[in-house]
Amino acid sequence: MTFKYVFIAVFLGTALVVSALLVNRARPQQETSQPSADFVRAAGKCVECHRRETSAIIHQYAKSQHAVHNVTCYDCHRPQPDQATMEHKGFTLAQHLTASNCRQCHATEYDQFVRSRHGAPAWAAVVGSDGFSEEQITFAETYHPGTVRRPANLLAIREGEGVMEMGCMACHAIGKPNTDGSIGTCTACHARHSTSVALARQPETCGQCHMGPDHSQLEIFNESKHGVLFAAQKDQMRLDASPKTLSTADMSVPTCATCHMSGLEGMNVTHDVTERLSWWLFAPVSKKRPNYQLGQEAMKSLCLKCHARSQVERFYQEAEVVVQSTNKKVQASLDLVAELRAEGLLTPEPFDEPIEFIAFDLWHYYGRTAKHGAFMGGADFVQWHGNYELLLKRIEIEEIAASLRQKAATKRP
Ligand code: HEC
Ligand code: HEC
Ligand code: HEC
Ligand code: HEC
Ligand code: HEC
Ligand code: HEC
Ligand code: HEC
Ligand code: HEC
Repeated sequence: MTFKYVFIAVFLGTALVVSALLVNRARPQQETSQPSADFVRAAGKCVECHRRETSAIIHQYAKSQHAVHNVTCYDCHRPQPDQATMEHKGFTLAQHLTASNCRQCHATEYDQFVRSRHGAPAWAAVVGSDGFSEEQITFAETYHPGTVRRPANLLAIREGEGVMEMGCMACHAIGKPNTDGSIGTCTACHARHSTSVALARQPETCGQCHMGPDHSQLEIFNESKHGVLFAAQKDQMRLDASPKTLSTADMSVPTCATCHMSGLEGMNVTHDVTERLSWWLFAPVSKKRPNYQLGQEAMKSLCLKCHARSQVERFYQEAEVVVQSTNKKVQASLDLVAELRAEGLLTPEPFDEPIEFIAFDLWHYYGRTAKHGAFMGGADFVQWHGNYELLLKRIEIEEIAASLRQKAATKRP
């Protein structure tokens, strides 16, 4: 090779490197810090374009176990049976992804999920049985009688459909029937592309829906000893530990997921959030669930990974006293309202008279809060947001009842 050619080659080579560097510098930082070539190869075609088009998605995906295990974009986005499709840059993709796209690889999680109240009962609580197939209704009713074969919720009807879309339905869509015949959304807890267990173990993730005065689980957790310790120590925990080996060394303080779902220290992971419960706490007057014994034992064996038996038994006994006492208070108030209706002093329609709202708040806010607070360590919720308000609402109801009766008596000839 002559000097001239070497010079040209070196010149061209340098120019290429320099221009590549310049081009790279001009590109947004998010692109230059792209994952390695190996990763791009594993994820294939989609990444080529999408790191320009929707780069955040690539960054989320790059962090996931799916990227580590070579699950590609197409694996999730390809159509499953009965899904509407779209043509996209030479690929046929599903128009909308549902639990069905996850189920192809995670059948166990799907099966547990659909038999829980996060499945069909969650959607039916607002909309009723509309949209479910007969087969789906029968399936859900065997696990949760009366929860799917029911009419649409009266309050939801009263408030109107437009509001329901972004209100009730946004939370209750966790169990929505999909047009492909599957039920629900897995991404409510895992997100679409990070598909992370660490995210699902954060209390805020459950708190997207489990918050507010009618189900204050997030607020209760945050003020409990567990919640305070978790906030203080979460940076030292391994929230991304595999569910198959999760130990108290990874997480020595429980979050919502630990108690209701995790496979701590060799216990089985469950996507059936109903499995470890023993009372229907959300009901106006709480009764024991049919699997009371099993549910309670399952939860207690979880507590026992971290606590002594005597502590746990005492905790449950005290919480059950709160349930019994709340039941009595709620029943008395509901009885009084029923008497007024029987005496013809209230219309038969629900939610058209102030006393009905007070009675609703009494059990739906304060009764529930007292019970949930007792079982999840929220003293302030048992007391000031619970029992104090129960007393106040009771007095208000009595006052209205007395005045309605007095008015009726003076009207009589
Ligand atoms: C040749 C470039 C290119 C390729 C290859 C490509 N995409 Fe896209 N994709 C785009 C562009 C551009 C958009 C539109 C972005 C926007 O609307 O701003 C898009 C949008 C999408 C959307 C949203 C569609 C919608 O309307 O809701 C999905 C989902 C998607 N791509 C997935 C994929 C998957 C999965 C692959 C691989 C199987 C892929 N893409 C391959 C360029 C590409
Ligand atoms: C674990 C499954 C999974 C994988 C893997 C996956 N996606 Fe998605 N993606 C989803 C789900 C679920 C949605 C929501 C779709 C819907 O609601 O119809 C989605 C939505 C999208 C959208 C539309 C998002 C928006 O907000 O507009 C794009 C674009 C997209 N994915 C691209 C990709 C690309 C590119 C990859 C690979 C790097 C990829 N996806 C990998 C599950 C996945
Ligand atoms: C093509 C098969 C495939 C599809 C489709 C798929 N996954 Fe996965 N998923 C895997 C594999 C493989 C792993 C890693 C091995 C394991 O943990 O079992 C995994 C792991 C996970 C994990 C555990 C992550 C962790 O941090 O430990 C979650 C959560 C998950 N997937 C959720 C989903 C969700 C939600 C969808 C649908 C939106 C989905 N997957 C779709 C194959 C798949
Ligand atoms: C912020 C999210 C969210 C919104 C908005 C919401 N809910 Fe709920 N709902 C929940 C959660 C979480 C529970 C579970 C409470 C529990 O078990 O303690 C629940 C429980 C219920 C229940 C009792 C369970 C059952 O199956 O009977 C009914 C009924 C209900 N919701 C109806 C509605 C209606 C109707 C609306 C709108 C007017 C609505 N919800 C709005 C999250 C929400
Ligand atoms: C997208 C909203 C949403 C998210 C996120 C969510 N839930 Fe729920 N959850 C609901 C609704 C709605 C219900 C009430 C279902 C019914 O009974 O009608 C419910 C009910 C429950 C129940 C009671 C089940 C029963 O049998 O009564 C438990 C326990 C529960 N969720 C735990 C969790 C945990 C733990 C997380 C987080 C890991 C979580 N949820 C995340 C909406 C959600
Ligand atoms: C230390 C364990 C623990 C933690 C942490 C925990 N829970 Fe609970 N949770 C319980 C127990 C115990 C019960 C009552 C069980 C029973 O019915 O026997 C309960 C009841 C519930 C119920 C009531 C279901 C009904 O019948 O109304 C829901 C919903 C729920 N928890 C959600 C959550 C959410 C969301 C979080 C986090 C913000 C959380 N839990 C944190 C232990 C826990
Ligand atoms: C209510 C929130 C929630 C929903 C909804 C949910 N998951 Fe999970 N998922 C979790 C939690 C929490 C964990 C981690 C459990 C633990 O800590 O051991 C998990 C773990 C997983 C894992 C890892 C399991 C293992 O043993 O390694 C997979 C896979 C998974 N989920 C798939 C799904 C699929 C598929 C769906 C939809 C059918 C789904 N998840 C719906 C909360 C949820
Ligand atoms: C992963 C471990 C873990 C699990 C599971 C767990 N806890 Fe705890 N719990 C703790 C830790 C750590 C503390 C703080 C103890 C301390 O003060 O040093 C605590 C504190 C408590 C306290 C407050 C004690 C006090 O006097 O301040 C109660 C009550 C309690 N737990 C009950 C329960 C119940 C009931 C369950 C099951 C439903 C449960 N815990 C599950 C780890 C756990």
